Amino acid sequence: MNVLVVGSGGREHALCWALSRSATVFAAPGNPGTANLGHNLAVDISNPSTLIGTVREHGIDLVVIGPEAPLATGLADALSTEGIATFGPTQAAAQIEASKAFAKDIMFAAGVSTARSATFTDQDQALAYVATHEEPLVVKASGLAAGKGVIMCETRTEATDAVREMFGGRFGSAGEEVIIEAFLTGEELSVFAMTDGERYMLLPSAQDHKRLEEGDHGPNTGGMGAYTPVSIATDDLLARVGAEILHPVLREMAHRGTPFTGMLYAGLMIDESGAPSVLEFNCRFGDPETQVVLPASGDLDLASHMWAIAHGDKWDAPEALPARIAAVTTVIAAAGYPAAPVKGAPIHIPRELPPDTVLFHAGTKLDDDGTLRANGGRVLCATGLGPSVAVASERSRELAEAVAFENALYRRDIAWREVARAGAA
Ligand code: AMP
Ligand code: GLY
Repeated sequence: MNVLVVGSGGREHALCWALSRSATVFAAPGNPGTANLGHNLAVDISNPSTLIGTVREHGIDLVVIGPEAPLATGLADALSTEGIATFGPTQAAAQIEASKAFAKDIMFAAGVSTARSATFTDQDQALAYVATHEEPLVVKASGLAAGKGVIMCETRTEATDAVREMFGGRFGSAGEEVIIEAFLTGEELSVFAMTDGERYMLLPSAQDHKRLEEGDHGPNTGGMGAYTPVSIATDDLLARVGAEILHPVLREMAHRGTPFTGMLYAGLMIDESGAPSVLEFNCRFGDPETQVVLPASGDLDLASHMWAIAHGDKWDAPEALPARIAAVTTVIAAAGYPAAPVKGAPIHIPRELPPDTVLFHAGTKLDDDGTLRANGGRVLCATGLGPSVAVASERSRELAEAVAFENALYRRDIAWREVARAGAA
């Protein structure tokens, strides 16, 4: 089977890595990491007709769309219309990530627990809401903002400023519609459901670290690391997430005539009593979570599951696939990330990597003279594997040290919460 992965980040390298177990992999445009596993195709992924031509030219059997942006603009629809098997939701279903207002509406209709909220397209009405609701409040741009359109506001003044910034255009058209919601407390958990619109298969759940600095301080980023398994993700909790969140949402989407197929990623808050609420949905795999979820999934035949879902075939999937091994990934970012990452630092990757590690490329580039260079914010993801999260995190750090380039930024405490929990047990 020839499988084409659309995208060029660490997530797409991890998808190619897992798919290459049972398929010949292509990536568009891919990165130097995906090139080592298969073939990179230099094609403009924002132009569906060019991509369709490339798919035909290379005899691609299945297309897997990595990032949210092409899903939100209808790439899956364009491919499916041409009869090309595609893993990833339609444009209508991708609204569950691309419009937080839509996601709230679905959750309300499906009776799913989520933070109390209101949606505004008018600044004055939003400001009036802030004035009459208790802080802390969370102000969110409804549209896609690369994980940066969420502002936590401890005071009403901060919430007022956030509302003004959003309507003032800080997040472009993503902020034309603004959600204001109550602040939830507890512990976050990311749950990954591969689904044909009706049934689902849960991949190992993960936690990521959004903050730039150790101890979870500093500005929010696209993600500085992730780990699996997470001990709070018990079978009981996951059964509850299925019954109270995933099944009702899938039913509501189908009921509206826009069934969701592909990867439904639920960002959850688990409160002190163990009850799950939804913070957000994503319509694709997580980045950097995929760089732990797939390595932890043992010999999962990802290509055949995706193939069955893309064809609407009868799909015999287990409801849950627990982690076979612990995995931790440390993101190695360029100096200046996230505000102004510096490109160009040369990267030296030793011939022999430390044992039980996998290195995923994200923002790297191979020069004409063969030098690998940092070429963006998040540059490499250093994944360590082991019998426990603590061991996997040591291996992840060891790999990060072995490949870090000049002025590279990375956290040395990824998975600290789980390591502390294990130490206390
Ligand atoms: P979202 O993109 O909506 O998941 O928000 C990004 C991050 O902001 C989440 O992973 C949480 O860390 C945080 N967040 C979002 N909504 C809330 C909320 N209602 N209460 C507390 N934290 C939140
Ligand atoms: N790591 C968060 C995300 O992929 O949205």
